[in-house]
Amino acid sequence: MKVKIVGTGSAVPEKCVTNDDLSQWMDTSDEWIRSRTGIETRHLAVRETTTEMAVEAAKRALASAHMDAEELELIIAATITPDRLLPNLACEVQSALGACRAVAFDVSAACSGFLYAMDIARHYLEAGGSRRALVIGAETLSRIMDWSDRSTCVLFGDGAGAAVLEADEAEEHAGILSTVLGTDGAGGMVLRCDNRRNHNPYVKGDTALSYVSMNGQEVYKFAVRTVPKVIAGAVEEAGLSMDEIDFFLLHQANLRIIEAVAKRLHQPMEKFPTNLQKYGNISSASVPILLDNVNNHGMIGEGSKIVLAGFGAGLTWGAAVLRW
Ligand code: ACO
Repeated sequence: MKVKIVGTGSAVPEKCVTNDDLSQWMDTSDEWIRSRTGIETRHLAVRETTTEMAVEAAKRALASAHMDAEELELIIAATITPDRLLPNLACEVQSALGACRAVAFDVSAACSGFLYAMDIARHYLEAGGSRRALVIGAETLSRIMDWSDRSTCVLFGDGAGAAVLEADEAEEHAGILSTVLGTDGAGGMVLRCDNRRNHNPYVKGDTALSYVSMNGQEVYKFAVRTVPKVIAGAVEEAGLSMDEIDFFLLHQANLRIIEAVAKRLHQPMEKFPTNLQKYGNISSASVPILLDNVNNHGMIGEGSKIVLAGFGAGLTWGAAVLRW
């Protein structure tokens, strides 16, 4: 039995903001952002919510899988920017889709979130209790940015991506071949955003909201050190060689990180499709949106071998190897 991705979908907000747009009111430039990160534009939510984007991506994934929402038995949403603490994002998606048979919950693992959610869904379906799952990565990161901090806010965007997974008892070759996850909580404070502070009547002091703060160079070093290793582990576990992989779909944090990973894996950049130029870094949504883009462009077909890899706050990382 194998668990396969049978449909993908994505959605981004309407408003597209260029680097030049930002430089109209912030001390930055297209040249600085483009040369350091590769990012040219990002889509920012003005009227859209995390839930709306997640629902739209999910509907498109279900349509591409030719599946009805009532057939889903599991919905896992990866997000660090849900619209509400209660109810969770997955419950709201379940309601909006009418996926009344599905168990629904969120996972929080930042830019590795989609990989974590996919790993859980894979094992849930392989255990045999359920056959069909929806996995979503959705973020409104612009909500947790400090828009006066040019070193972080220019990097991120908003959007959602989704994939429908199905267990196929008769299948032996195609599907998710391996998933590898990792965590280093001790390194976590290099990329953080605190929750709202306690303000019960006995607490004195500051109740100001927190925004994303990042030690960019430490994050860069972590990513370049860890991602090649986790990819190598997942490819080996899948019983493949690196040269057999057709595409590496990495979390879209920064073009320089992706180039460094490609170099360390001795693989050409042509195998590393990117969309960060258009969308920036959308945390848990980056990998599923890129997977949907690649799928829609007809770049992958039956037998294609693909690596998905996420890395980010936690610190967390994860990779999966798929045969399409
Ligand atoms: N526009 C213009 N100047 C800027 C901007 C900006 N938007 N942001 C920072 N600067 C300035 C700084 O103030 C600093 O100026 P100074 O030398 O006068 O003090 C100068 O640029 C250099 O700043 P650094 O932080 O040293 O820039 P660096 O070359 O390290 O690039 C970057 C920053 C792009 C964040 C880099 O560290 C990086 O790629 N880090 C990886 C982290 C990453 O990609 N994070 C994404 C989120 S995490 C994730 O998804 C895993």
